[in-house]
Amino acid sequence: MQLKTPTFKSAQHQEIRSDDGSFTAYSVEYDEHYHSTKDGALNESLCKHVLPALAHTHDQEEIVILDICFGLGFNTLATLHALKGSGKKVRIYSPELDEELVRSLENFVYPKEFEAFKAVILALSREQYYASENVEITLVLGDAREFVRDTKVKFDIVYQDAFSPKSNPLLWTSEYFKDISTLMKPDAILTTYSIALPTRIALHENGLNVYLHKGEGFRSATIASKSVSLEYEKVDVEHKMRCNPEVTSLKDPQ
Ligand SMILES: C[S@@+](CC[C@H](N)C(=O)[O-])C[C@H]1O[C@@H](n2cnc3c(N)ncnc32)[C@H](O)[C@@H]1O
Repeated sequence: MQLKTPTFKSAQHQEIRSDDGSFTAYSVEYDEHYHSTKDGALNESLCKHVLPALAHTHDQEEIVILDICFGLGFNTLATLHALKGSGKKVRIYSPELDEELVRSLENFVYPKEFEAFKAVILALSREQYYASENVEITLVLGDAREFVRDTKVKFDIVYQDAFSPKSNPLLWTSEYFKDISTLMKPDAILTTYSIALPTRIALHENGLNVYLHKGEGFRSATIASKSVSLEYEKVDVEHKMRCNPEVTSLKDPQ
């Protein structure tokens, strides 16, 4: 008897091919895709998060990353792909609320660039932990808000890749970014696809400099850091606030 090939199945998610050929998913619960289908899942992950973040930390031998949230794991896996053969040590912490999604990931159709990481995907899907000589990944099943409030780990890189401020506002509030800012080392970098002014105000309110990240083949994104020496176009958030006095950062409910 021929065994059926397992496929990614969940009542809450549908696998969708994005424009760079890699698959992403659509969330029924959030009515949103996990990645921009136009930028492409792998392309978005590499261009908006992984490549600028690794360029920023290129002289470090060890990198500690906060990947919010794990989802399909593209940012974590694209980081391993980009670091392959570099000999660098990387430690990644990634909160994710959806346990059913995590357990179904071993059946997700990943791009060929992630083929070398089948053992990583299996370990994270089944045990939420993977370690090898240079890599340690902890997938934290639970609320990212609690993780950022409680952890004592300090990070070099933060991938801020939650669902949009409209559909998941609690992961974009000023109070949330206060906790994130506390966890960032002085030279750390934060990457996010959001260019929304409320997000940028929330970053600015918490002592982060905000930069426009634009380039070929992807829609503009945001980079933020405590240091002021990044080679990106700095966003004058104060000026934008003066021009748009009705816009404020999102706030936690009382
Ligand atoms: C846009 S997706 C993340 C995409 C991911 N970076 C990737 O590359 O596939 C957002 C994820 O946030 C998760 N999520 C939503 N609220 C959360 C929370 N409070 N804590 C942790 N994860 C959360 C969702 O289940 C979803 O998997």
